[in-house]
Parts: sequence; C-alpha cells; structure tokens
Amino acid sequence: MAKLSELLKETTTFLKEKGIGEVDFGLILGSGLGELADEVEDAIAIPFSEVPHFAVSTVVGHAGKLVYGTLSGKKVLAMQGRFHYYEGHSMQKVTYPVRVMSALGAHSIIVTNAAGGVNENFIPGNLMLITDHINFTGDNPLIGENEDEMGPRFPDMSHAYTPEYCEVTKKVANAQNMSLQEGVYMGYSGPTYETPAEIRMSRVMGADAVGMSTVSEVIVAAHSGMKVLGISCITNLAAGMQSSLNHAEVVETTERVKAQFKELVKATLAE
Ligand code: 6GU
Repeated sequence: MAKLSELLKETTTFLKEKGIGEVDFGLILGSGLGELADEVEDAIAIPFSEVPHFAVSTVVGHAGKLVYGTLSGKKVLAMQGRFHYYEGHSMQKVTYPVRVMSALGAHSIIVTNAAGGVNENFIPGNLMLITDHINFTGDNPLIGENEDEMGPRFPDMSHAYTPEYCEVTKKVANAQNMSLQEGVYMGYSGPTYETPAEIRMSRVMGADAVGMSTVSEVIVAAHSGMKVLGISCITNLAAGMQSSLNHAEVVETTERVKAQFKELVKATLAE
C-alpha cells in the first residue's frame, strides 16, 4: 500500500487546486448537525466523492461534502457527514479526513455526533461536552506500521479532549444560559444499537453516552498533535432506559436542538 504521506500529498494538491488554503479548525459534523456548514462564508464545497482517496459514504442523511471557508472569523474545513466504521470502511479510511485537515495546517478539530444517553441525569435534547472517551470499537486506526513523521508510535491520550477548549465551551454555554452536560463518550462499532445489558455495562465502566463514531477520529487527531473539542447531541436514551430505539428519533431530536448546537459551536469558535 502507498504511504500515507504520499496519499495525503495527492489529496491536498487536489484541494489546494480547488481553492482550499490554510485551515485553522477542522469540523466534523455528525448526524443531523451538518447544517452548520451552510453558515460558512465564502464557501467552497466539494463532494466527498470527488476527493482523491476519500471513502464513499453510504449513510442516508449524511450529505457528504467538504466545505471550506470562514466561520466566526476562523478558517474552517467542515465535513458535512462523515465515514463510519460500520459502513465497512477501515479505521484508516474513516480517519483519513482528519489526516487531511492536519496536512492542511489545522491545529484543532471540533468533532460532533448524535449519541445515546447512558447517564441517568441526561434527557434527549441535551448537549454534552465530551471530556474523555472509551474506545470500545475493538479496533484502532493506528494499528500497523507507524509513519513517524505523522506522529508517535504510542500517543498519549491523557488530555485528548483539550482541557482549555472544554473550559471555553463551558464558559460560552454559561454566558448564553445554555444547559451543557459533560461526560465520557463510549464508542461502539455499531450498526446495532446496544443491548440493555451492554448499556448497564457501559454505565459501570464510566460511560455517560454511547455512539458509533468520534473515538477513531480523536485518536488520529491526538496522534497528529491536534487540539480537540468534542460535543455530543444526546438524541435519545440508550437501550433499557426507554421503550425502544430508532433512527427517526435521532433525526427528530437533532432537528429540535440544532439551532442551539450551531450557536454553541460558533460562539466557541469565536472565543
Ligand atoms: Cl443508543 N447507541 C449508539 N451506539 N449510537 C447512538 C445511540 C445509541 N443513539 C444515537 N446514536
């Protein structure tokens, strides 16, 4: 297989030809939260399908494009939609866009997702600041030969979710009178939702929310030396905590809170 650095060169050359310049913040917009990309000023939008070495997204409700431009005065490269492990992509494919963001100069990334609430104090519609994660996917995007120019063989994950960014987001939420939960995100492979027994286990293990994304992206961001802000939208309570689960509820809840979510991210970026 070609070296990651060589693939990245081809991808960044293509993106630069399309007019994408320096990037400050990468943005990954989860299920139902992609509308934020519509607020990017002087936007250049490129479908994932056109980007060399990007995987092909299969998920309904994920628009699937890169949007470059200015948001809250910062140069951002937003992913409207993302690649998921459960689609059958390797962890390397899932996280390749994070490598691209880093290669374009992004020093930070904001990752967002729809997640199930495990903490008994959460209610659907809550936003949760991710303070840490549990990688329960059974895989890791860094497995394999380490390209030392990309990052260390054994990355430190002690402060993967940048504490300064957590403080900024809490301050912003407070200033806007917005309620903001915080907690640990536990990443599963999906595509099944968890069983009630798995959710009880997750709670005992220290999870506050569960989802099917984010952990692999944050691992690669940490490997790349990027700062990270993570925000979950708690779209429903997890299995055993409500009568049943379905994707329609996930979509409905993100619809309901997306305005608040967008304000929180924009105000945090501005700070
Ligand atoms: Cl309950 N589980 C997982 N894995 N992902 C979710 C979810 C639950 N709710 C929204 N996304």
